[in-house]
Amino acid sequence: MQTLQTTSLRITDNQLWILDQQALPQEKNWLPAATTDQLVAHIHALRVRGAPLIGLSASLLLALQAEQGMSQQALHTSLATLRASRPTAVNLMNNLDRMKQALEGTDYINAMVREAQRLIEEDRQLCDNIAHAGTPLVNADSRILTHCNTGGLATAGSGTALGVISHAWQQGKVQHVWVGETRPLLQGGRLTAWELTEKGIPCQLITDSMAAALMAEGQVDAVWVGADRIAANGDVANKIGTYSLAVLAHYHRVPFYVAAPHTTIDRHCLSGKEIPIEQRAASEITGVSGSFGAVQWAPEGISVHNPAFDVTPAALISGWVLDTGCVTPQQVTEGFFRSAE
Ligand code: MRU
Repeated sequence: MQTLQTTSLRITDNQLWILDQQALPQEKNWLPAATTDQLVAHIHALRVRGAPLIGLSASLLLALQAEQGMSQQALHTSLATLRASRPTAVNLMNNLDRMKQALEGTDYINAMVREAQRLIEEDRQLCDNIAHAGTPLVNADSRILTHCNTGGLATAGSGTALGVISHAWQQGKVQHVWVGETRPLLQGGRLTAWELTEKGIPCQLITDSMAAALMAEGQVDAVWVGADRIAANGDVANKIGTYSLAVLAHYHRVPFYVAAPHTTIDRHCLSGKEIPIEQRAASEITGVSGSFGAVQWAPEGISVHNPAFDVTPAALISGWVLDTGCVTPQQVTEGFFRSAE
């Protein structure tokens, strides 16, 4: 397979490598993802994360496995294992449906390689299109609050919500970005803070609990977030804490935008209630661990509730910015996502 490089995925010498998103930004370690089990372990540990990136990494590995001579039956097993690696982001399922179709043909090796490469190219284009569609919604001198990480680390391109922010900043429209740290795994504090700093975009890191006070002070002009799944009624699953921001934005009359590629839409999920929400290990909130070390602060054996995502009802969303353009609340009420492909 051809050499390939995105911010956090790489193919060299017919091997998939991932940039360890657990270790960033202190360490930039490229780790091999040579087998299904290895990639699934990286996905579970969020070394590979972000809705689009999970699907792309799984598709690339399958294409490489096909090239390396894995049987069609074993490829089906690998695909099913990868598909079950994380339940909430539907991009994984959508990408793997396409890889499965490629796998079912006679010339499946070439078909799978072509499909995986196409998915990468398409994702780059989706990000550019989202950035172009979203930028007109950003007013001059905006102070934008964002949550989790939706940038180049989470996609093959410039990102979704962070792609809009970066593009709007290049056009001189962004004064400041508030980066919510994103509990429990600090995707904002580690990854978004790093991406924005690398680009020289003015930003300040806040804890998630500071958003209300900032909005009350009139210091937030808009909230931009990504999505892991958009239901047919426009409800959106995204990183835990997104819903709180939407409620706060609604109360303070701050526009709340969701940016995502069309591969995040699941018209078979009638509402957010049907979106499966991943539950994660207790250790993620009884302490922290990363390249900086590990510490536990909670009492040993404490009972923990740790959902990775929450659902923001459509009624709290000012606009859904897709690669195909902006979708308004009225269009959503009229069934836009119900008929989306
Ligand atoms: O658990 P994560 O870090 O994979 O969660 C990521 C998010 O919630 C993102 O906002 C979403 O996947 C969109 S990434 C372009």
